[in-house]
Amino acid sequence: MIAIPYLTALTTYFSYGLLFAFGQIRDFFRKFSDGWWRPNNLQGYAPICLGLEDFYIRRLYLRIQDCFGRPISSPPDAWIDVVERYSNDNNKTLKRTEKISRCLNLGSYNYLGFAAADEYCTPRVIESLKKYSSSTCSTRVDGGTTVLHNELEECVARFVGKPAAIVFGMGYATNSAILPVLMGKGSLIISDSLNHNSIVNGARGSGATIRVFQHNTPSHLEEVLREQIAGGQPRTHRPWKKIVVIVEGIYSMEGELCKLPEIIAICKKYKAYTYLDEAHSIGAVGKTGRGVCELLGVDTADVDIMMGTFTKSFGSCGGYIAGSKELIQYLKYNCPAHLYATSISLPAAEQIISAIRVILGEDGSSRGAQKLARIRENSNFFRSELQKMGFEVLGDNDSPVMPIMLYNPAKIPAFSRECLKQNVAVVTVAFPATPLLLARARICISASHTREDLIKALEVFSRVGDLVGIKYFPAEPKKLHQEERMKLE
Ligand SMILES: Cc1ncc(COP(=O)(O)O)c(C=O)c1O
Ligand SMILES: *[C@@H]1O[C@H](CO)[C@@H](O)[C@H](O)[C@H]1NC(C)=O
Repeated sequence: MIAIPYLTALTTYFSYGLLFAFGQIRDFFRKFSDGWWRPNNLQGYAPICLGLEDFYIRRLYLRIQDCFGRPISSPPDAWIDVVERYSNDNNKTLKRTEKISRCLNLGSYNYLGFAAADEYCTPRVIESLKKYSSSTCSTRVDGGTTVLHNELEECVARFVGKPAAIVFGMGYATNSAILPVLMGKGSLIISDSLNHNSIVNGARGSGATIRVFQHNTPSHLEEVLREQIAGGQPRTHRPWKKIVVIVEGIYSMEGELCKLPEIIAICKKYKAYTYLDEAHSIGAVGKTGRGVCELLGVDTADVDIMMGTFTKSFGSCGGYIAGSKELIQYLKYNCPAHLYATSISLPAAEQIISAIRVILGEDGSSRGAQKLARIRENSNFFRSELQKMGFEVLGDNDSPVMPIMLYNPAKIPAFSRECLKQNVAVVTVAFPATPLLLARARICISASHTREDLIKALEVFSRVGDLVGIKYFPAEPKKLHQEERMKLE
């Protein structure tokens, strides 16, 4: 639950209203003049990009598009090279310059710092590239299964604490392709309201009935489960064929930890399967980096389907599903993303195996443990300092993801551009990735940040925060009480 100050809610609605109204007026007059967009419209065809999305992109997003998709010309380490761009048409199109600005990177999911060259991983990745090449040019069932793929699956299963695992070349496709294999007509998916788009699309594509429960609210999950089990399938009222509850370990736009123990208890009570997406938690939290189960003291045997990605803590690409031997065997025979998609790139696979070895200390050093201690210290330090400064920071302690609320649409580019000017690269997120009112900057802390890096970032944030006016919780004077805020989910 996010409580937004009433005045902020009002000005935010007003800003969007104004943007919408002017956009509509400009679109209205556009019809009367011949402009640059006309030649694209084929005679007799319906416009291919019509609708509110198109309007939103043209009239809202393009105004601030310089804050998104900034080209980078370095690894996504603690510091990155951001390529400067310029525009001759009010940022409608952006052109790259030769100039580079070296920025502190607070945007990449490089939790453990494996995305940059690593003394253990990088030489092995290069070796695998020489030995195997970059692609298998084949699907897993044809010529695309190498010994490295088998090793990766064993390594992942062992790491997450499940009997078996299957890996895919893309994290997004892992969710969106697996859910339609497991679920279908007559089955029920109960999904957290803030689950990632890959889960939403996988669930929709499965054809199963989807019910949503209030974000991270076990009591509401129980309510939905009881109601659905009592009612059964629509029309026929037959019992559901199977029920899966889908949650995430750390919610990537809120920085919150899943209330996993409570959710597991409810799922067990009602005999529903649990599907846990650990994209942001695997490798990043827990004493040995094994994710939220380790952090919150949940037995992995109680989570039926464990999903995660290699794109964050491991500095690679791809995703995995870990579960019982039967489940993984079934997926290997049935999942189209396994049968019809080229297998994960080999250097990427080697990167994951090497990163896991470092995390577990199997490289013969204590670097893994140090990284894990570092990300935790860094995250908790940064979060508490931000809170002290009066920012409205979402999420839980220990989570390396910390959103800072901006709310107003004008504050999105203001915060992003001002930070960039002072050599701090941040990611801002707004609608449709968040609800309209709840635009935010999303900070990702890494084990590769030094204390000096974080202090520099805090200094910049403090200045920019005053300038942009986003210290919504000033310690003194206590202006905004909880009662004066509008409750939103
Ligand atoms: C919760 C969650 N699941 C899945 C994905 C998709 O993973 P990938 O980026 O590896 O394709 C993401 C991506 O950010 C995510 O946050
Ligand atoms: C275009 O982007 C730059 C920053 O990249 C910004 O300073 C400028 O105000 C933007 N122009 C418009 C018209 O929004």
